[in-house]
Amino acid sequence: MDDQNLIQKDLIKKIVGDARGAVGIRLCAIGVNLGIFDNLAKQGPATSQELAERMKLDERYLREWGLGMFSLGYLDFDKVSRKISLKKEFIPVLVEEGGKFSQKGLIEILNSSLLPYHELLNSFKNGGGINYDKIDQGFWNGIDQTGCTRYRHYLVTDWVDKMPELKSRLETGSVTFADFGCGSGRSTVEMAKKFPKSQFFGFDLFEPNIEKAQKIALEAGVKDNLKFKQWDVSNPLTEKFDFVACFDLIHDMIDPLEGMKTIRKAVKEDGIFVLMDIKCEDDPADNEGPMVPFMYAMSLHFCMTTSLANNGAGLGTVGLPESKVKEYCDLVGFKTVKRIETDHPLNSVFEIRP
Ligand SMILES: C[S@@+](CC[C@H](N)C(=O)[O-])C[C@H]1O[C@@H](n2cnc3c(N)ncnc32)[C@H](O)[C@@H]1O
Repeated sequence: MDDQNLIQKDLIKKIVGDARGAVGIRLCAIGVNLGIFDNLAKQGPATSQELAERMKLDERYLREWGLGMFSLGYLDFDKVSRKISLKKEFIPVLVEEGGKFSQKGLIEILNSSLLPYHELLNSFKNGGGINYDKIDQGFWNGIDQTGCTRYRHYLVTDWVDKMPELKSRLETGSVTFADFGCGSGRSTVEMAKKFPKSQFFGFDLFEPNIEKAQKIALEAGVKDNLKFKQWDVSNPLTEKFDFVACFDLIHDMIDPLEGMKTIRKAVKEDGIFVLMDIKCEDDPADNEGPMVPFMYAMSLHFCMTTSLANNGAGLGTVGLPESKVKEYCDLVGFKTVKRIETDHPLNSVFEIRP
């Protein structure tokens, strides 16, 4: 075989591998959304007929799905009993909500964000982008699920410990903490639970997220020290807070600089701005790691594209490296930017002061 054939063979092998990965996520999304993994985890192995009866779903579809999941390695299949089953070790990854190893959010984000496809092609041809009204609810569910894991297992157990002044003032109480772009409020709720003596405020532009955040807070039994409000961070705010945080907000914004100006004005002079965004390098060509392709796909399907839909900056998912954070901080009058060393593979956290 000559060199050219070998190169083509390698490429075809790569495409086949990528196709397998893509359908794996698609079939996983079906298992997550319909609760099939959950049912197998709770009620044990089943034939497609038994599963259909248990779940009131169509047997033929379940049989095809089950065999597909077996071929992908997500389920086991017993050739004699014809039962499919889920390994108990897979339950924390595919079933548990908010568990440290849960990947339900990633599955939902990827599956749902790919939906407005023709609008995306149109944006390539004509510019502009895709607005929130075209984004599937599954995408927001996925963001909620990834947030649930991240804020339970990193924010309140690791990141806060690494900012001792923030932690001790929140513990002492009578301080205020605002979470800008709070989404479904997982970060705000976890913080309000952890520091019951301080007051927490969650703001988000998108009303359905605020409604969901209120529901999540209610379910978590957090009500006395937590309020959510629909509000666009680009608009001026009269209140000042001891602490302001943005988790995964700035790179999504239509006008990130305007947002940073509001944040600067909202942080008291002795306060702290906690900025968490996607870990990335100054030169995008230096971004490395298994999740980098996912980040670019998310940028195209949400982060960059929803900003460009409104003539925004369109920074993109990996568009806020440390140098850009420092540039914005300089422009709006924050004096110090300190990177907090965390073991989270995808996020950068900065402690920023006026
Ligand atoms: C990627 S989501 C992150 C949500 C949440 N902080 C989390 O980490 O799960 C970005 C959030 O920022 C909100 N957002 C975008 N631009 C905003 C703005 N100008 N003002 C307030 N919220 C905004 C979106 O509605 C969305 O909920």
